[in-house]
Amino acid sequence: MNSTELLRTTRAFRRRLDLTRPVDRAELLDCLDTAVHAPSGTNRQPWRFLVVQEPGTRQQIADYYRKGFAAYLSARIPRPDQLGDLASGRYLAEHLHEVPALVLACALGRPPATGSAPHLASFYGSIYPAVWNFLLALHDRGLGGTMTTAHLAYEREVAELLDIPFDEVTQVALLPVAHLRPGPPKQGARRRPASEVTAWERWGGA
Ligand SMILES: Cc1cc2nc3c(=O)[nH]c(=O)nc-3n(C[C@H](O)[C@H](O)[C@H](O)COP(=O)(O)O)c2cc1C
Repeated sequence: MNSTELLRTTRAFRRRLDLTRPVDRAELLDCLDTAVHAPSGTNRQPWRFLVVQEPGTRQQIADYYRKGFAAYLSARIPRPDQLGDLASGRYLAEHLHEVPALVLACALGRPPATGSAPHLASFYGSIYPAVWNFLLALHDRGLGGTMTTAHLAYEREVAELLDIPFDEVTQVALLPVAHLRPGPPKQGARRRPASEVTAWERWGGA
């Protein structure tokens, strides 16, 4: 896969996750080594990663995730084009505890409660590029993951479970990681082309 293919085919992998095959620490660490090449505001490198592979702990995290996901589902009426995603989202929620590695991406500090847009942008913008680097690195070597946030409704409970100091560290995403089972790439990018979402010189300018 060349880099453009990798960038265009890295998806939310859910049903293709191999729930039966363990993931090596060394492989995870290698992909995390790619993650940490991401940019961050003033090169703070605020990312911290917590890898959970112990089955009992995965089960407890998955229980919180499922509660968060159920609340998310009950609060929305999906568009018809979102039904497929929601079905695979349900599949992931049901099987989350079986995914061999749950990687929590965290940022040092807490998001600014009030304050300037640059601070808020810098807080989250200094962690998501690393998360995405990680997901790309996984895919590049035949593994896969999904960016998820549903458990964050229970961030405090998960922090307690994992000894994360809640006042000092923010959980940003939960990334279920596994080897990918062979399968066709997801059909259709389901993305509007750049030409439809890009303006020139002025907002709306063609
Ligand atoms: C910030 C963010 C939060 C997300 N949270 C969840 C989540 O909690 N559960 C889930 O199954 N997918 C989650 N997703 C995955 C999206 O549903 C997915 O990226 C999107 O539908 C595009 O999927 P595709 O790349 O496979 O086309 C999240 C993605 C992002 C960027």
